[in-house]
Amino acid sequence: MKRVIFATANEGKMKEIRLLLADLEVEVLSLKEAGIFVSITEDGKTFEENALIKVKTVGKEAPEAIILADDSGLEVDYLNREPGVYSARYMGEDTPYSVKNQAIIDRLSDAVNEERSARFVCVIAALLPDGQTFTTRATIEGQIGYQEEGENGFGYDPILYLPEYHTTTAGLSMEEKNRISHRGKALRQMKELLIDKGVI
Ligand code: IMP
Repeated sequence: MKRVIFATANEGKMKEIRLLLADLEVEVLSLKEAGIFVSITEDGKTFEENALIKVKTVGKEAPEAIILADDSGLEVDYLNREPGVYSARYMGEDTPYSVKNQAIIDRLSDAVNEERSARFVCVIAALLPDGQTFTTRATIEGQIGYQEEGENGFGYDPILYLPEYHTTTAGLSMEEKNRISHRGKALRQMKELLIDKGVI
């Protein structure tokens, strides 16, 4: 059976990828399950570069496997697409998201509705045993809210307001969010691409 290693330490992401690939004859492993303990330096300038850095670093440890990795973040148009690839590191990795979210709201205090557009971006990268790489990218578009809202999710979820749902991504259930989210869409695109190419 083909082995797919998803280069993440995040259990939530593992659950999502396992569910997505459940109908295929593949064994899906986390880094820990594959016995891979490498440090990955995410110093790329784009989501694509970072996702490719992750799969290539892990691929050296498991050359026979299909490696998948993701990179994601929040882009705020009014802030020239910040924090972007620096989303996790914005204001410091250990700063609580309540503080980061309020800082973004404050930086948009002069921005009217039309200027508040923002999105979560997710790029999925794949590395095949023959060295080929592919990436898929998807977004979920919204606006930076005027205050935090919603109890679900993580990170910047309480400030990405989705007008058509009348709430933020933190106001959606996990199932709803997975159906429409940047990560869900990019993962499904990658699944289709790998099926089309006969990889899985
Ligand atoms: P990573 O791709 O797991 O490194 O995530 C990068 C950062 O982007 C996260 O730490 C969050 O700050 C932010 N981010 C990515 N996706 C989401 C999301 O779905 N909701 C909220 N924040 C997100």
